[in-house]
Amino acid sequence: MSVLRMFDAKGSEFMEHLWKHSFCAGVAARMIADHLALKVEGKYFVAGLLHDVGKIFMSQYVPESFHELLTLMLSSRNLKCYHALEESVLGITHQEVGGILLRSWMFPQEIVDAVAFHHDPASSRLDPVFTFCIHLADVLCTVKGITPLKDRHFVAVDRDASARVEGKNGAMTTDDIMALLTRLDLEIDRQSSYLAAFRRR
Ligand SMILES: [Fe+2]
Ligand SMILES: [Fe+2]
Repeated sequence: MSVLRMFDAKGSEFMEHLWKHSFCAGVAARMIADHLALKVEGKYFVAGLLHDVGKIFMSQYVPESFHELLTLMLSSRNLKCYHALEESVLGITHQEVGGILLRSWMFPQEIVDAVAFHHDPASSRLDPVFTFCIHLADVLCTVKGITPLKDRHFVAVDRDASARVEGKNGAMTTDDIMALLTRLDLEIDRQSSYLAAFRRR
């Protein structure tokens, strides 16, 4: 609950959108685990919910640099994606920051790992399938437009990682991903009362 308080930044449009993105990524991660016939445990929702905690930290603790980054991203002359801009403006990515934060808060190592590699799941050593679930959850929400960023660069599924993930019918295919995208609307709809309840707490 104390981590959830970090999402509180009244009047911040960015934080409102990040909250919805994070909540939906938690819902999506659980759905993907179910699709892969994995045991659906709380860790999927928690890691999905916290995958972008590094962005919260950056927006609250280095607000000027973070604002500069967002302004640069929206500039018509910008050719870099959000992640490349993080490297050049802040010298660190939000997945690295997220990993450092969760490690220092003593979260379970597999959750730390999934957050620290959610944009690069093929590099995850501890539990690559779990990390892939968080990665794909993030991508599905972004494709649906549930994202706080207006990045013009498309976020893609890591095919190296997805090739190693077995679905109910073998390797995960584009058809699987399309089916998950459709199912996600239903799952988010079903959880929408929880989304509202969290915001009213
Ligand atoms: Fe991210
Ligand atoms: Fe994300």
